[in-house]
Amino acid sequence: MAKVLIATEKPFSKAAVEGITKILTEKGHEVSKLEKYTDPAQLLEAVADAEAIIIRSDKITADVIAHAPKLKLVVRAGAGYDNVDLEAATAKGIVVENTPGQNANAVAELVMGMMVYKARNFFDGSTGKELRGKKIGLHGFGAVARCVAPIAKGFGMDVYAYDIPQVPDSVFEAAGVTRITDVPELYKTCDYVSLHFPALPNLIKSVNYELLSNLPKNGCLINAARAEVVDEDGIVEMFEKREDFVYLADVAPKNKAEIAEKFPGRFFFTPKKAGAQTAEANANAGFAAARQICDYFETGSTKFQVNK
Ligand code: 3PG
Repeated sequence: MAKVLIATEKPFSKAAVEGITKILTEKGHEVSKLEKYTDPAQLLEAVADAEAIIIRSDKITADVIAHAPKLKLVVRAGAGYDNVDLEAATAKGIVVENTPGQNANAVAELVMGMMVYKARNFFDGSTGKELRGKKIGLHGFGAVARCVAPIAKGFGMDVYAYDIPQVPDSVFEAAGVTRITDVPELYKTCDYVSLHFPALPNLIKSVNYELLSNLPKNGCLINAARAEVVDEDGIVEMFEKREDFVYLADVAPKNKAEIAEKFPGRFFFTPKKAGAQTAEANANAGFAAARQICDYFETGSTKFQVNK
């Protein structure tokens, strides 16, 4: 039976941790926790005897892997695994998994919440606008976007989506959304564009001024994906050249102070990454991670491996 470390700088809810622990200990695994750590050195120390780790956005660097000689499995309880050095893990034969879709609804609800907040002028008491009849463009049509689509339709929005050609038309048809095959066209068409693609190297800073400038008057960008996919200079240029532009993000860009000083009232940034921070998402993703660890040690299953 394995020693499993739950390493979460941003902890799961108490109930989720209890559930994760129950799933693992019932199968005879031994669970330890490192929560709210402030120094990466604490993680280096904690992984010394771990055979499996459950993480969130915690950084599993080559250094962490070098300090974990017994490590066999890393499960990212969530979708994006850009926080794990896959090359270093693969070189040591360590399996890396995620738990796709488990926190998608939570992120989708945050997207909708931020849009309502913006449409009502950040609840400042002035006359706002409604979402009904407006167009939303989903840039990327994975698990989160597929949760946003029905909620946005429930609000009476027209939903458009872009994804790479490998995603079949049937996926868009089943969701009842209009597929757009050209990224600038998506931005030209929609009042709100919401980002839903991973921070792959070729997509870093890909949402730049050139692309954003396609947005219609009063266009709004929502980023509940990764800060890195947006070109921060492009955001500033957009704010400067387009007085109508609004940016909503989970979580704040590095140039937040500059934006706050120069463009007050035209943005909202969550103070700490909040998309997946619900009791339900914590439980869904955490329990899935625990079950995947049990399966791995019981049957050798690597169904959710991302470093094949
Ligand atoms: C994800 O990739 O699953 C989300 O960004 C959530 O990340 P978190 O678990 O750090 O909140």
